[in-house]
Amino acid sequence: MILLWILACKEEVSCPDTPTYENWAEGFFISKCQPCHAPEARGVFGAPAIEMNTHEEIMEILDVIQNSVLDNERMPPGGGLSDDDRILLQSWLDCPQ
Ligand code: HEC
Repeated sequence: MILLWILACKEEVSCPDTPTYENWAEGFFISKCQPCHAPEARGVFGAPAIEMNTHEEIMEILDVIQNSVLDNERMPPGGGLSDDDRILLQSWLDCPQ
């Protein structure tokens, strides 16, 4: 019963060609954000601790990420994201699967 539910769920993915947490977003947040924001980074450059270690944690701050990184380009400080990163992040935020 549970297996059927999982299979049914997977087939309902509505944006199959966009990046997923497993194949893109996890690595993005670990490499581009966590060096400053992970609690164990101890406030590199005064950065507030923001948990971005799991899909669930990031799902809670999607709007904040959209606003800070893409709409206002405040993060990472001084830029540093490639155009590819920005395009992939936008498609992942639109469908954070
Ligand atoms: C080089 C260190 C560094 C990196 C890398 C970095 N940040 Fe930050 N971040 C900071 C600092 C310092 C602040 C606090 C000062 C400020 O708000 O500008 C901050 C503030 C923030 C804030 C709260 C203020 C705001 O702008 O909304 C958010 C949200 C945030 N960062 C998200 C991110 C995300 C998401 C990434 C990855 C794309 C990221 N940061 C990468 C240093 C960093």
